[in-house]
Parts: sequence; structure tokens; C-alpha cells
Amino acid sequence: MEPIIKMAGINKEFKVLKRREGIKGSIRDLFSRDYQILKAVNDVTIDIMPGEMVGYLGPNGAGKSTTIKMMTGVLEPTSGEILVNGRVPYENRTRNAQDIGVVFGQRSQLWWALPVIESFRILKEIYQISDRDFKDNLEYYDALVGASELYHKPVRQMSLGQRTLCDILAAFLHNPGIVFMDEPTIGLDVSMKSKIRELVGRLNKEKGTTIILTTHDMGDVDALCKRIVIIDKGRMIYDNDIEHLRSYFGAYRTIRIQFDRHAEDLDNEVLKQQALEAEEWLSVEFPRSESIAVSMEEKWIQILINEEEVHMMDVVNCIQKQRRIADMNLQEISTERVIRKIYEGGIV
Ligand SMILES: Nc1ncnc2c1ncn2[C@@H]1O[C@H](COP(=O)(O)OP(=O)(O)OP(=O)(O)O)[C@@H](O)[C@H]1O
Ligand SMILES: [Mg+2]
Repeated sequence: MEPIIKMAGINKEFKVLKRREGIKGSIRDLFSRDYQILKAVNDVTIDIMPGEMVGYLGPNGAGKSTTIKMMTGVLEPTSGEILVNGRVPYENRTRNAQDIGVVFGQRSQLWWALPVIESFRILKEIYQISDRDFKDNLEYYDALVGASELYHKPVRQMSLGQRTLCDILAAFLHNPGIVFMDEPTIGLDVSMKSKIRELVGRLNKEKGTTIILTTHDMGDVDALCKRIVIIDKGRMIYDNDIEHLRSYFGAYRTIRIQFDRHAEDLDNEVLKQQALEAEEWLSVEFPRSESIAVSMEEKWIQILINEEEVHMMDVVNCIQKQRRIADMNLQEISTERVIRKIYEGGIV
């Protein structure tokens, strides 16, 4: 099978004005401009196969949106080769648009004043969707999320969650081979996030659509992405399964403890105090405490340890000597932490 997206040695440079400071500087800027080249995307090579769901991750300003703009044909790379659906995207923008869909968490692609169903009808004309496909998709959407309840509501009267739902459905309406999503769950509450994740997961599986997802929400990554690509300062620093990534950090584990039987009822301040005390005891017993970190989450005191440097039982014993532990459990390292470690330069 051929990749549906092929990028080889892709670079994107922006020429940006180097501004001088202060009023004097601004005046000098008027007369002599000093430009500098910013490498937003630096030698990126990726192949994505049809039907894959890829998490495209990286800190703010890493180059994610710039990459997506090149894949969708909005921007032309400075150098390198790119093929999407077998075509050069910036040379065939109209044709390319037929085969892709986009969802931006921050802004809607739908017509603000119109009921959603009218927006869908306009999209039907734009993309020349057959009556049959249109009807099938509307029925499918109704079965998926009960979408018909929303069809007659204008977008401007919708909640952010309802709007995002409709935006996602709109992006899949013309059955594109690829859908790009830039932070689809941004600003949503916990239950809406999980509804959106379930929807996206089903669309990927049931329609076989290739999905490229950028997000800062590790819950999205855990729920949806088997493969992740991480970019930092324009360079790709990781491309593999999430599981593979976690194995790099196999030595990290979190011990979660509670000192009271009914810790859920305790005030956060009390728990914070307990966490501080635990940290104190540990720092005395393990002076090289870089391999131990104490925090608090949902009424649990969490102790992250690197088992290559400290033994779990030694840590538990150290705490137990000072105070009786009422409840305890263990957690493997979270995706959140794995990704943070990589952003901080953990494995490269
Ligand atoms: N049109 C442009 N002109 C000049 N510089 C740009 C332009 N677009 C992006 N950049 C710069 O390129 C770099 C990458 O930006 P990009 O928007 O791709 O980041 P991102 O990974 O999407 O970040 P975020 O997570 O914040 O959305 C940044 O330093 C940004 O300032
Ligand atoms: Mg972006």
C-alpha cells in the first residue's frame, strides 16, 4: 500500500523582521530593516498510511500548524517533497480540497447565522456530494450522536461542545480520505471531551478515514492515537507507537498514598501539608532526590520515582516509619509525563 501522505525533507522558512527595542529602535526599523530567517519546519520526513490516526504533538510554536498548512496546500514548502493523495497539495488546491476535511477547535467552518442543516446543504453543493451519500451520512450521524436534534439550531446559538460536534460531522460529510484536526477538544468539559473522542475514534474506524490530530490534551492522545509524531523547534524528534515511547520510561512509577481512611473528605490544604511533610521525610532519607517528586492529585499524595535509582519499597518504608499509610496504589508513568519529559529534552 502507498502512503496517503508523503513528506520528504520538508522545510519551511519564514522571513521575519527583527525588531529593535525602544522608540529609537522603531525609528531605525523604518529606515533599515533587518530580517532574519525562521525555520518553522526543519527537514521533516513522514509517511502516513491510509486509515492511520496520528497524534502530531509538540510544544507551542513547534511547527505543527505550519506542517498541517503545507499538507492542506495553504502553504508551499521552502524545499522538500510533499504528496497528499498522490498530488502536490499547493499545486492542486481545489482538487486537493475534495479529498480532505479540516476541523479547527478555535473557529468554526460553519455558517454562523444558518441552521446546521443549511450549512450541510451548502457543503453538499460545494463538494458535489450525491443525494445518496448525503442522506446516508445524515442517517449515520444520527445513529452516531443523535445529530438530528441539532440540525435546526443556528451555529451561533450552540454551545461550544455542540458546535465542535457539528464541525467534525461537517468535515466528514464529503467522505474525504484525510481529516486534519487542530485541537478539537480545546475548551470542552470532561464529558463532552469523551463524547468527541468516541465520535472521532468511530469515524476513523468505521469510515477508514486517515486522521492527523494536533492536541495539547494527553487524554486525546491516550484515547485515540496509537502512533505519535513529536516535533520540537521545527525538527521531528519522535515518530513511533505511544507504547514504545512509554517503555523508555519504564523505570518511572508513581506511588499514590493516603494517610486517612476518608481522605476524600479532607480539605486540600490539609492534604497539601501532608504532601509537604512526606517530601521532607524523603529528602532527608534520599538526599539525591532528583529521582523522587511529590505532588498531589484528587486527594492522593503522589510520589513519582525512578526505580533505577530508588527502590519502591525503600520509599514506602521511609514514609511508613513516620506515619501510618491508610491506602496505597501504584501507577505506571502517564502519557502526560512522558511527553513532558520529551519536551524537556528527556530522551534526545
Ligand atoms: N506566517 C508566519 N510568518 C512568520 N512566522 C510564522 C508564521 N507562521 C508561523 N510562524 C512561526 O513559525 C513557528 C511555528 O509556528 P506554528 O504555528 O506552526 O506552531 P504550532 O506548533 O502550531 O504551535 P501551537 O501549539 O502554539 O499552535 C513559530 O515560531 C511561529 O511564530
Ligand atoms: Mg498551532
